[in-house]
Amino acid sequence: TLSTQELLLSRIRDVADYPKPGVMFKDITPLLADPVAFTALTEAFTEFCVRHGATKIVGLEARGFILAAPVAVRAGMGFIPVRKAGKLPGATLSQAYELEYGTAEIEVHAEDLSAGDRVMVIDDVLATGGTAEASLELIRRAGAEVAGVAVLMELGFLGGRARLEPALAGAPLEALITI
Ligand code: PRP
Ligand code: MG
Repeated sequence: TLSTQELLLSRIRDVADYPKPGVMFKDITPLLADPVAFTALTEAFTEFCVRHGATKIVGLEARGFILAAPVAVRAGMGFIPVRKAGKLPGATLSQAYELEYGTAEIEVHAEDLSAGDRVMVIDDVLATGGTAEASLELIRRAGAEVAGVAVLMELGFLGGRARLEPALAGAPLEALITI
């Protein structure tokens, strides 16, 4: 029988040269369409959240939303969306970060995170680590504690783990699959 890791890996589709030449896109839609694999992923993330004492779940727009929301429900923890800039109607905290070309900005509703919260960040892929790093800055600036970061897939060759290390400040980074 397949291990959870093998099952998850078997449901991620490699798409060459997308969205641009030379990039191998990791398509998680086959995994989402398979209820056994999606459930196994949700259970693995939930176990990690419980083990590390999380009290709230942050999902990173857009693919992180899909993976984090069922974990929040399963774990009985609140779901907090970290969105791309300009999408949240209330008072926000914003964090800019560097992309390969240019910069990006993410936001969270300031009232959603505060002192006493222990927050787990969930996303599909850790690539350069820029998005996850910015989300950790938002959590700390809101006065909350970082319980950890959990991703389905870490692209080890892009060095995201090393980039994230200072912002993690000892909190765990869990990758179910590393490639
Ligand atoms: C992708 C991916 C991660 C991020 C990882 O999101 O889903 O969130 O990039 O890259 P990084 O580690 O270099 O920051 P993207 O914003 O491209 O698209 P999405 O809205 O479909 O999630
Ligand atoms: Mg994303």
